[in-house]
This record gives sequence, structure tokens and C-alpha cells, in this order.
Amino acid sequence: METSGAGSPDYSEILQQVPEGTFYRFQLFPVHGVPLMKPIVNCWERIEKFQAQSDDLLIATYPKAGTTWMQEIVDCIMNEGDVEKTGRAPTHVRSPFMEICSPPPVPSGIDLLEITPSPRLVKTHLPYELVPESFWRQKCKVIYVARNAKDNAVSYYHFDRMNKTQPDPGTWDEYVLKFLKGKLAWGSWFSHVLGWWNARDKHDILYLFYEDMKEDPKREIRKVMTFLGKDLSEDVVEKIHQHTSFTSMKENPMANYSTIPSNVIDQSLSPFMRKGEVGDWMNHFTESQNKIFDEEYRKKMEGSTLTFRYKI
Ligand code: A3P
Repeated sequence: METSGAGSPDYSEILQQVPEGTFYRFQLFPVHGVPLMKPIVNCWERIEKFQAQSDDLLIATYPKAGTTWMQEIVDCIMNEGDVEKTGRAPTHVRSPFMEICSPPPVPSGIDLLEITPSPRLVKTHLPYELVPESFWRQKCKVIYVARNAKDNAVSYYHFDRMNKTQPDPGTWDEYVLKFLKGKLAWGSWFSHVLGWWNARDKHDILYLFYEDMKEDPKREIRKVMTFLGKDLSEDVVEKIHQHTSFTSMKENPMANYSTIPSNVIDQSLSPFMRKGEVGDWMNHFTESQNKIFDEEYRKKMEGSTLTFRYKI
């Protein structure tokens, strides 16, 4: 396997060589009731048996909740604000996506993790119940980021338009219903955020919110530092804050997924770093979609202490 100099394969070169259509909009099949893309389902046994190491840090999210942002923050903290080091490779190489699998010769997330030096920064979108058991046996730390359902749905819709591996999103109207019914890849937002919320005291889990990160990024960066046992100066915190702002990450080829070719993600349809705001849902939901959404939301979140902010 070719390496990128960062000890990992040159992912974008491999992807470029893959024939057009290889990635075309995989169908979803349920794994323990959670819809996942076919290549992931095909390697499920390997994912389930994945051997975590005790110093692995797992970053878990429902898709489009701010994963990449948290990956960049954590990599910055682990490298004590040295942005030369965080620029060593693109996000998906620095912090592999555990369950992602593609047709050969594209390396899977686990292939990448197996050649990643420790401590490894592992990304997952798996709901709590589907996380490989070894993470709990090894008492790994986990950072979970949750984002309000409406902005999360909007962001996922635009992502599904441009990400050719994901099923076709259909119209926005159809998409809202699929989101509410848990028919999208990685399943129900409700089960996801609630499953992780209910598990947060059973393991070493830091549960954070996208809206809090937007409101006061330095406060949330400090929470992550404390969780990781890192004591960095205010100057370094400020540097991390600047480096992980939406505008800097949008311009950063090592964070904005521009190294993934357009046969996989077509950023001319919608950029990966799209808006990065709280409240963009107001530009998308019609009055009737909002009413249906709110009714369903009330039913699904009833009795939980988990609450979200829809504007800040
Ligand atoms: P939008 O589509 O609303 O812009 P993920 O990394 O989980 O796929 O999430 C992507 C979402 O996080 C996108 O949301 C993206 O713009 C936003 N995002 C990425 N980096 C960000 C940052 N530094 N600040 C704010 N939002 C960010």
C-alpha cells in the first residue's frame, strides 16, 4: 500500500483511480435494526470484532453533528496547538472513520486504524448499542457531539446531495419524513442522541453540543482539554480556537475534505464546510414541515432530560 508520508495510504490517489460509478449511492440494509450502507454491512463482522486500545479516543456523532470540527479540535489539543503537525494529513487519515468500508482497493477505516500510531483518534457514527464491545472493555474515553435535530437534518440533506456514496436524498419534503422515521444511514437521530445520553454515566463519556461550541468555542475547547488531562496555556487555547474556526477550516485542505475527489463527494453541489451555523433550519422548514416535526419530536423525546437549543 502506498503511504502519504504520514504513515497512511494515499487515500485520495486510490479514490481517484476507482472507476466512475463504484461509489454510486449504496443501498441501506439493517444491522441490529440500524440502516447502514451495504459495504459496511458486508464487513460488519470485522467491525464488531474491532480491537480497541486503552488509549484510543472515540469521537462519536450522528452524521453532520460537528464530527470534523471535534476531530480537528482534539488533534490540535493532542499536538498542543502545533498546526504544522495537524496539517500532516487530511482528517480521514489523521482520525480514521472506524466503520467505513468501500469496495477494494480503497482501504477501510479499520485498515487505516491498524496502521495508525497510538494514541489513535477514532471517528464513528455508530449508535451506542452498536459500538464494538472492546471500547468498553478497554475503558476508552469517548467524546460525543450532538446537534439540534433540525439543523442536523438540514446539514445531512445537503451532504446527501453531494456525497455519492449515500442514498439519494430525494426532495427536502421527503427527506424530513425519512429523518423522522429513522430511515437515513446510521438510523434515527432520536435513538442516537438518546442512546448516548443514557450511556454517558456508564462509561468515560464527555457529551457536548454543537450549539455550545458555536456559542463559546474556547469554553468547549477547555472542557475537552480537561477531559483529556491536558493543561495548555491560554495562548495555545487561542491558537486552537483560531485554527478550528469555521472560516479557517473551510480554507484548510487538511480539514475541508477537498482531497476527496468529486467521483466520491462533489463539493460543487454543496461544500462540505457549508454554513456552520445554528438556526439555518429556519431557511428550510416550511410551517407545515415544522409542525409535523415538532409533534413527532415531542413524542420521541418525551420523558428525557436531554434538551437542545434551536437558536443561540
Ligand atoms: P452545515 O452543513 O450546517 O454547514 P460533520 O463533520 O459531522 O460531517 O458535520 C459537518 C457540519 O459541521 C457542517 O454543517 C459543517 O459546516 C459544520 N462544521 C464543520 N466545521 C465547523 C466549524 N469549525 N465551525 C462550525 N461548524 C463547522
